[in-house]
Amino acid sequence: MTPKPIVIGIVGAGFAASFHVENYRRVPGLDIRIKGVTSKRPQRAEAFAKQHQLEKAYSSVEALLADSEITLVDLCVPNYLHHPLVLQAAEAGKHIVCEKPLTGYFGDGRQETSRRTMFDAALKAADEMVDAVKHNNVMFCYGENWVYAPSVQKTNDLLAESDNTILRIVAEESHSGSHSEYAKEWRYSGGGSLFNKGCHPVGGTLYLKYSEGKRKYGKPIKPKSVLAQVANLTHMQSFLDEDEKWLKEGWKDCEDWGTMIITFEDGSVAQITASDIVLGGIHNVMTVYSSKVVVQCNINPNTGMLTYAPTDRVLGEAYIREKVETRAGWQFTNPDEDWMNGFPHELEDFCQAIAYDQSPKSTIELGRDIVAVCYGAYISAETGQRFLLSEWM
Ligand SMILES: NC(=O)c1ccc[n+]([C@@H]2O[C@H](COP(=O)([O-])OP(=O)(O)OC[C@H]3O[C@@H](n4cnc5c(N)ncnc54)[C@H](O)[C@@H]3O)[C@@H](O)[C@H]2O)c1
Repeated sequence: MTPKPIVIGIVGAGFAASFHVENYRRVPGLDIRIKGVTSKRPQRAEAFAKQHQLEKAYSSVEALLADSEITLVDLCVPNYLHHPLVLQAAEAGKHIVCEKPLTGYFGDGRQETSRRTMFDAALKAADEMVDAVKHNNVMFCYGENWVYAPSVQKTNDLLAESDNTILRIVAEESHSGSHSEYAKEWRYSGGGSLFNKGCHPVGGTLYLKYSEGKRKYGKPIKPKSVLAQVANLTHMQSFLDEDEKWLKEGWKDCEDWGTMIITFEDGSVAQITASDIVLGGIHNVMTVYSSKVVVQCNINPNTGMLTYAPTDRVLGEAYIREKVETRAGWQFTNPDEDWMNGFPHELEDFCQAIAYDQSPKSTIELGRDIVAVCYGAYISAETGQRFLLSEWM
């Protein structure tokens, strides 16, 4: 089959949009043209187009969607916009790449909404997105880079080598806060650390258990229940009283720490932690305990390269790795962080999926199940009870 050419329009001109453009440019062997970008503020879209040498800055999402040359719309916008823009893009007949998390409950910022109401609304939105994609016969690629991190893919390959059973997964994504102001308010983000950071290790975990199930039984092994707790550790008085702050604070109504235990229908378990209270650079790790092998995935940090500098100053403006506070001392310097994160592999798989009309590894169904697990975890954290997921899986 001759691969179809791909013409991309990016929506959003922030952090995710930048690493998407950079990594589309690393995809080999396909006819890919990143035509243009639109953002909330036209000046920002114009600056982004200039910086990344794109042909066009569109004045609005509608103008971008009206461009008949564009075949793929890449949504790099705050979470609350994923649902409406996926529906709009699907209706316009465009293939879609959408950043994580798929969607959530956003509401109007009122605190009294029960987590159960949020769960129902988030899943309804996710199911509407699944239906819109099917109804309009467009491809949907869910931007979960943990699925594509080379260490996670290699884990899946190793597990497939023999009749392995994943017994337990321990995984964590933790940062020192978010660079995006949208992350601090539930009405834009749909949740705090447990959702926004936790969706990554939940995504990697579900991917591995689903792959195991498909190998063994021809169908995924799904989550059965979830038990969780959340906290606002940067709201502690002794932290607030400190003069100098290294962690990002100001979380309005979102938690900055959460943990959950997922039990799968085959009885295996996953312990997931996510937070915004960790210094020393991002901490994205997963250990898989299977019946025949133990695998430690150090997505970030890893020891591929270590550097030592006597002071921060001697390395000038050099990039070390995401969110590390200093260049001084021994550092887990990352020579290609995007590669370890799986970004080039993710965008290559998405472009291959569209060019050859095949399913990507990270699907809308995976994104939907992650929403169910995370919002089920919120119900559990609110009620103090394990939440049964089977009905929604
Ligand atoms: N996979 C990852 O590791 C990863 C990392 C960061 C962010 N993300 C995801 O990417 C998405 C964007 O996050 P970000 O960090 O780039 O945020 P950001 O704040 O850096 O950028 C968001 C962009 O969206 C634009 N925007 C806001 N409202 C808009 C509208 N109505 N129309 C058009 N553009 C609009 C903003 O102007 C901004 O340019 C989020 O869903 C986030 O969860 C994923």
